[in-house]
This record gives sequence, C-alpha cells and structure tokens, in this order.
Amino acid sequence: MSEFDPLVIYGGSFDPIHNGHLRIARRARDAFRADVVFVPAYRPRWKSPAAGFEDRVEMIRRALKSEGNPSFSLSLIESERPNEVSYTVDTLLEMKKRYPRRELILLIGSDEANSFPRWKDSEKIVRLAKVVYVPREGVEVDPEVVSHYEIERLDGANPGPVSSSKLRGLSLLDCPASVIDYIVDGKLYFMADLESLLSERRLAHSISVASLAYSIALHNKLEHPERAYQAGLLHDVGKNAGEVTSRDIVMGNYPEYKDYPSYALHQWVGAVYAREKFHVEDQGVVDAIACHCTGKPHMTSLAKIVYAADKIEPGRGYDSRRLIRACLRDYYKGFLAVLRENREFLSAHSLGAENPLTEACFELYLGKEKKEK
Ligand SMILES: [Fe+2]
Ligand SMILES: [Fe+2]
Repeated sequence: MSEFDPLVIYGGSFDPIHNGHLRIARRARDAFRADVVFVPAYRPRWKSPAAGFEDRVEMIRRALKSEGNPSFSLSLIESERPNEVSYTVDTLLEMKKRYPRRELILLIGSDEANSFPRWKDSEKIVRLAKVVYVPREGVEVDPEVVSHYEIERLDGANPGPVSSSKLRGLSLLDCPASVIDYIVDGKLYFMADLESLLSERRLAHSISVASLAYSIALHNKLEHPERAYQAGLLHDVGKNAGEVTSRDIVMGNYPEYKDYPSYALHQWVGAVYAREKFHVEDQGVVDAIACHCTGKPHMTSLAKIVYAADKIEPGRGYDSRRLIRACLRDYYKGFLAVLRENREFLSAHSLGAENPLTEACFELYLGKEKKEK
C-alpha cells in the first residue's frame, strides 16, 4: 500500500480483540483497498474496559502479529492524550495531520451509527473522514441519521457470533491463540470465574488440558481448534460441586446417569455449569465436557480430543510423551491408544470398566481387540 491509499481508522475498546474484529478489518481492507489501523480507545467515554490499556494493546499486537497482514497496524494515538476522554474528532484531526494525503475512513458499529448525532463534533467528523458502519444482526440503523451524515454501509462484513463480552465470559473463545494465552497467563476476564470454581492445582491441570487439546486439534487441522481450548478450560469446572449438589444437578439435567459413581458426576455438572454459569451455547463443547471422564460410544472428534488430553496432559505425573505424540500425529489413533491404556490400567488393577458408558465406549472403539495384555 502507498501513502496515497485510503486509511481505515478502526477504533474501539478492543476489550479484548477477537476474530470478529479481524474479519471486519479484512473486509474493510478489501472493500476500500485500504490499510487498516486499529486505534484502541485509551479511556472510552461510553464504558470502562475490564482490562487496562496496556493489556488491550498487547492483545492487539499479538493478534496482528499472528494475522501477519502488512496492511494492518496499531496506533496508540489515543494514549497520547492520557488526561482526556478519547474523542474521535481529535483522533481524526491528528491522523489528518500525520497522513495529509490519505483519505480517512472511519469504521464504526451500527449501534454507534445511531448515536452518531450525539458524538462530539459529528458534523466535523464527516468532513474529515468517510464514515462507514458495520451492520450487525438485530441492530437497525436509523435511515435519517445515515442519510444526513452520508454514512455508508460496509457490505459483506461478517464478524460471526463472537463479541468481546462473550469472550470475557468464556461463552465463546473465537480469538487468536496468542490472545487466549495472554488472557490465561495474565489472569484476565474469565480467569477469575475459573479460579473461584477450581483449586490452584485443578486450574493448572485445566490450562494444561486446554493447551494440549488445542495443539492436538490444530495439528490435526480441525476447524476452530479454539473450541478444544475452551472445552479444556471448562472440563473440570464441576469438580468441586460436592456430592449432594452434583447428584441434584445430574438428576435435574441428565437423569439417566443419576446413579453413576461419584467420580463421574463432575462431567455432567461441568456441562451444566458451562451452559449456565459461562453461557456456552456451543453444544459440541458442552457435549465434550459431558463425556470427558467416562467416554461414551459415538464421540465427536472434539470429545475424543478432550478425553485424550485430560488423560495425558504433561502434568499428570507419568510419562505420557508417546501418547501425546500419537495424538498430535493422528488424534483418532491417539485416542484409541489412550483408551487402550486406560482399559489395560483398569484390568491390571482388577477393575472393570466400572460403568456402562465406559464399557460401551471400550466395546465400540476397541471392540475386537484383546482385553488383556
Ligand atoms: Fe474430569
Ligand atoms: Fe481433568
């Protein structure tokens, strides 16, 4: 891109940045043959971000790095006026100074389009930049506002169902892996909820399962490997619910399993917590949590990966490197190897499959293989 190409100003709180933002930015770049500059708000006037400016900036940096797109960049212009509320008009004036030859395009959301007349110096803004809104499902834009300010619509932009608030609550984890790592390492957003439900040791195990499940999904080229990360983080959230509460929850939600042994109950409690406490709508993720302990016949690829990762994550205290390598190479063969070891372990300790689900799982996947060494 040259210094004469248009420049899309993509402002927002980016709390945090997610794949929806990146999809919109790609669409804007293509639609206007423009560079896109992400401009995180230092102190947004309409809300107070859950994460600090430095954290939000670092996540954008990481997202842009993994995106690897030379048309995308980051501007910290709004932090250069740290004592003031961030006003778009000031940002545009500054951008105009820095890039006098470039056409400025200001990208806003459809809800922002409706409040546009109340923005500081809105008439001035439209003289400085072409204003373009990103349509969002369920948000009607006011035709009078759009025509008065000549606000254009960015067609073909599909951010998907993700939003920053869904990400903050772990309801949906649709963002680059480097951003997920930053959130987990920095204990941002949903980490406080996980900490309240899991012991320190159990949380470390869950992070390890999440990260391994993600790697297995990625190596096996599964679509949306971040779903494996999400299921891994959540798989044991039912662990500390206590026997009485757990039985109640299983009775109410999965009555067919109400008489299962205590150790297995947490998988269904976890599935219910994922849905109710974390608002996970992805049934595939919920189902993977609901069978991670016992296994079952006809598991999805995601469920197989979470099941295997739970048994072989490096913190488990035995040498699982061979099984990890097997799963990374071919998750299905790896899953079978994990199942086989599990069955051998049970038989070496003179234990049976212990419950009908595990028995049926062994039977379906290992079927004709010999049951003893
Ligand atoms: Fe578990
Ligand atoms: Fe676990």
